[in-house]
Amino acid sequence: MRASANSPVEAPVLKTPQSRGWFITLEGIDGAGKSSQFSAVVETLRGLGRAVVATREPGGTPLGERLRELLLSEPMSTSAEALLVFAARQEHVLHVIEPALLRGQDVVCDRFTDATLAYQGAGKGIPRDRLEALAQWVHPGLEPDLTLLLDLPAEVAAQRMQAQGRTADRFEREPQEFFARVRREYLELAREQPRRWRVIDANRDLEDVREDVLQSLKSFLEA
Ligand SMILES: Nc1ncnc2c1ncn2[C@@H]1O[C@H](COP(=O)(O)OP(=O)(O)O)[C@@H](O)[C@H]1O
Ligand SMILES: [Mg+2]
Repeated sequence: MRASANSPVEAPVLKTPQSRGWFITLEGIDGAGKSSQFSAVVETLRGLGRAVVATREPGGTPLGERLRELLLSEPMSTSAEALLVFAARQEHVLHVIEPALLRGQDVVCDRFTDATLAYQGAGKGIPRDRLEALAQWVHPGLEPDLTLLLDLPAEVAAQRMQAQGRTADRFEREPQEFFARVRREYLELAREQPRRWRVIDANRDLEDVREDVLQSLKSFLEA
């Protein structure tokens, strides 16, 4: 039936992928180079005339940033850690990510749920199905369109962090075996969903890594 001119306002309809923005995430162990490559992704999209929301996890909202500070500094159980990560993520999805995507803006996010599967799952031993149940609760139907994995051996990442010379946070203080497990899980996740993931060899000069990152972005946008 056709709606008449004075029918009530139509219920909002989920936009098609074309009018919805792209949801792009960067993943990788601490020291892999996510922050170093982040602005190249954002600026490239902006250079194409796209509106971009640049954000990070945990964080991205006032409450999320306060939870981030606690997560990075306060001793807590692994379960509390996972639940706080998802609490922060809920705020982020509701107030930042979904509204931006629905407005047609791209969202580039430094870490998302894959990081929880890798860190709190493989790294700290929370069963994956529990984390996936939380993900299903917090962001049903929302998954990144493109995930760039900066892949680096844990020992090289550790050297980079050491060279940086700043005080390590609660996660960065984990032993190298922890980061080796996290890295393996990231690679496994990428293997499971090869269409969404691009694995980038991050064990090279910044410029070479950037070239690969931008090439992956370009091939995604052109596909
Ligand atoms: N390709 C690279 N080669 C050498 N050092 C790098 C490279 N990428 C990043 N770094 C350095 O390694 C450290 C961690 O990089 P960063 O981008 O903060 O990683 P992440 O955000 O993934 O933890 C920083 O000191 C950064 O300057
Ligand atoms: Mg970083």
